[in-house]
This record gives sequence, structure tokens and C-alpha cells, in this order.
Amino acid sequence: MNYKRSIIITGGAGFIGSHVVRLFVNKYPDYKIINLDKLTYAGNLANLKDIEDKPNYKFVKMDICDFDGVYKLMQDEHVDGIIHLAAESHVDRSIKDPFTFADGHAEPVASSEAVLGEPA
Ligand SMILES: NC(=O)c1ccc[n+]([C@@H]2O[C@H](COP(=O)([O-])OP(=O)(O)OC[C@H]3O[C@@H](n4cnc5c(N)ncnc54)[C@H](O)[C@@H]3O)[C@@H](O)[C@H]2O)c1
Repeated sequence: MNYKRSIIITGGAGFIGSHVVRLFVNKYPDYKIINLDKLTYAGNLANLKDIEDKPNYKFVKMDICDFDGVYKLMQDEHVDGIIHLAAESHVDRSIKDPFTFADGHAEPVASSEAVLGEPA
């Protein structure tokens, strides 16, 4: 099927991401929704059991800091939008390991902007 749009939602197995993924998959059957999540302690695909077999849904286990992997996925799936919700979201962990937090927030945003900004 040719989808009208192809959208990556990062962190789609997390608390907020799973609700956003479900909303988009059900509300926009003509959009392909790709849930990109590394499945840390916070990610749980059981949150998405009810939509895992929908034709417009795809799960990809990947780290958002894997530039080459994300780049290839974006090219292969003709991605034209990203909703970025993957994060190390727990405050206590950010105090213990601030660099992981910085990597998980700034680097992937810069990388995806670089890819989306490339001429088709
Ligand atoms: N929960 C809230 O009340 C709330 C409120 C306002 C804003 N936010 C923001 O929304 C975003 C999501 O919050 P949440 O509560 O859903 O977090 P969460 O911890 O429940 O989920 C984060 C998800 O990101 C994934 N993830 C983490 N690092 C990754 C990486 N490097 N690559 C790929 N996937 C990775 C995890 O596996 C998990 O599924 C965060 O930026 C948070 O700051 C949350």
C-alpha cells in the first residue's frame, strides 16, 4: 500500500509515546506509523498489544543515537516526519548520568534534522 505519509514516533513503547502511537495508528490508517524504540527499562510493547497487527504499524528496535541505522530507516521508509518522544525521562537517573541524557535529547534531534533537510 502507498501511504500518504510515513512517520517515525521515537519512544513509542514508553508512557506518552504508546498513547501517541495508538492515536496515530487508529486515526490515520493512510499514514504509516513506525515506532522506533530501544526498549530500555521504561519501554514495554505490551502497551501496544491492541494495535501490533495493524497494517499501518511497524515496530523497529533501535537506538535513536544510531545515526546510520536511523538514516537508513528514514530512506527505506521514505519518512517525512518524526515525533520525538524517546528520552531518559527519570530525574533521578539524569542526576546520576547526565551525559546519557544529553545524548538522548540533543544528538538525535540534530541528526534527524540533518536527514530530513537533505534534498530528496
Ligand atoms: N510523563 C510525563 O508526565 C511527561 C510530561 C511532560 C513531558 N514529558 C516528556 O515526554 C517524553 C516521553 O516521556 P515518557 O514519560 O513517555 O517517558 P518513558 O520513560 O515512559 O518512555 C521513554 C521511551 O523512550 C525509549 N528510549 C529511551 N532512550 C532511547 C534511545 N536512546 N533510543 C530509542 N528509544 C529510547 C524507552 O525505551 C521508552 O520506551 C520525555 O521527553 C518527557 O520528558 C513527559
